[in-house]
Amino acid sequence: MRTFESVCDYLQREAPADPVVCYRPHAAAAAAAWFVRNFPGDVLYAVKSNPSPLIIDTLYKAGIRHFDVTSPFEIDLLKPYGDARIFYMNPVKHPAHIRAAYFEDGIRDFSLDTIDELDKILVATDYARDLGLHVRISVDNSRSRMPLAMKYGVRPSQAPDLLRATRLRAERLGVCFHVGSQAMDPNSFARAIERANRSIRKAGVIIDSLDVGGGFPAAYPGIVPAPLDEYMRVIDTAFENSLTSEACKLYCEPGRALVAESASVLVNVTLRKDNLLYINDGAYGTLFDAAHFKFPYPVQAIRDGHIHTSDTASSFGLFGPTCDSVDFMPGPFILPADMRAGDFIEIGQLGAYGETMRSRFNGFGHGERIHVNDPPFMSLFSDTLLPAAEQRR
Ligand SMILES: Cc1ncc(COP(=O)(O)O)c(C=O)c1O
Repeated sequence: MRTFESVCDYLQREAPADPVVCYRPHAAAAAAAWFVRNFPGDVLYAVKSNPSPLIIDTLYKAGIRHFDVTSPFEIDLLKPYGDARIFYMNPVKHPAHIRAAYFEDGIRDFSLDTIDELDKILVATDYARDLGLHVRISVDNSRSRMPLAMKYGVRPSQAPDLLRATRLRAERLGVCFHVGSQAMDPNSFARAIERANRSIRKAGVIIDSLDVGGGFPAAYPGIVPAPLDEYMRVIDTAFENSLTSEACKLYCEPGRALVAESASVLVNVTLRKDNLLYINDGAYGTLFDAAHFKFPYPVQAIRDGHIHTSDTASSFGLFGPTCDSVDFMPGPFILPADMRAGDFIEIGQLGAYGETMRSRFNGFGHGERIHVNDPPFMSLFSDTLLPAAEQRR
C-alpha cells in the first residue's frame, strides 16, 4: 500500500478513475488505545466493521487481544495472531462452521439465543465440556441510529429458561446484548444491564461474564454523541450494581467506534445535474450506510489537487455509478456551489462499514487503497471534536 502525507498530496500525483480508500491506521490505533485504557473490562473488536488486515494488525499492535467474529472468513483473518482470543458471536451459525471453529481453530466461546442453537453447538462440538456460552438477550434499541433488535435476542419471557438450560451445559455462562449501532444515549447500556439483571434473577443462575456488545458511537456531522467517557462511566456503574459476582468478566464488542475514523474514500464526480452529483462509488460500494441509513458522512471537495472551498455552499445528493436508482445517497452533503464534473470529493468517517460493504454489482467495486498520514475528519479521541478537520486545511 502506498503512503502519502495527505489525500491532496496523492491527488497532486494521480487522477484515479476508481474510488480510493484512504486508510489512517493511526486513527484506529488511537481509538484502540483509548478503549483499552478506559473500558472497565476486555475489549473485543467486532471484525465485521472492518476486516482489512491493515486495521486488524493496527488494533492488535495497539493492545486489542479479543475479537468478535461472524464467519469462518473472519476467523481465518486472525490466524497470524496466536494469542488472539476469538469469540464466535453470531447467534445463528452453520453446524459445520461451529465444528471447524471448535476443533480446528480452538474457539471455545459461542453466542446463542435459542434452545435449538444450544443443541446445535453441543452436537457440533461433541458435547464439549469447556464451552463459554453467551446467551444473547433482546434489549431496547430505540436510541440507536441502526437498530439490530429485530433479528437476534431471546425475549425476556423466554430468557430465564434459556439461561438455566445453558448454565447446565456451559463451563462459562455469559449474557450478551447489543443496544443497536451508533447508540446515542449512554443510558441505553444501563437499561440493558438492568434487563439482563432481571433475567438472571428470574433464572436463579450465576453468570461468569457480561458482554455489553457494540453500539458505541462515532462522530458524524449533525450526529454528535455524548462523550465516550460518559458511556464508560454509565457501564461501570451499572455493572458494579449488577447481580454479578466479583469474578464476573465484563466485555464489550465495539466496531464502529474503534474504526470509523480510520478511513475515508476519495470519489470523482462524473456528471452534475442541478444539485445531484454522479460519482464513481455508491450504495453497492463503500456508501451502503449513506444510501440505506442516510448517514450524513462529512465531505470536502478537492480540485486540482487542493481543497476547494467557495463563499457559497449548496446541498447535494449523490448518485452512485450503477444503473440502479436505489444507488442514491441523499445526504444532504454540503459542498461548494460550483461543484462540477472532474472534481474529487473526500468522504470521511468511512473506516467502519465502508469498504467491507462493497460488492461487484455492475462490475464496480475496484479501486486502490492508500495510506495517508493526515488527521481524520472528526475525532472523538482527540481533546476537542473539530480541530482535526481544521488541521487538514
Ligand atoms: C454481535 C455484534 N457485536 C458487535 C457489533 C459491532 O457493533 P458496532 O459497530 O455498532 O459497535 C455488531 C454489529 O452488527 C454485532 O452484530
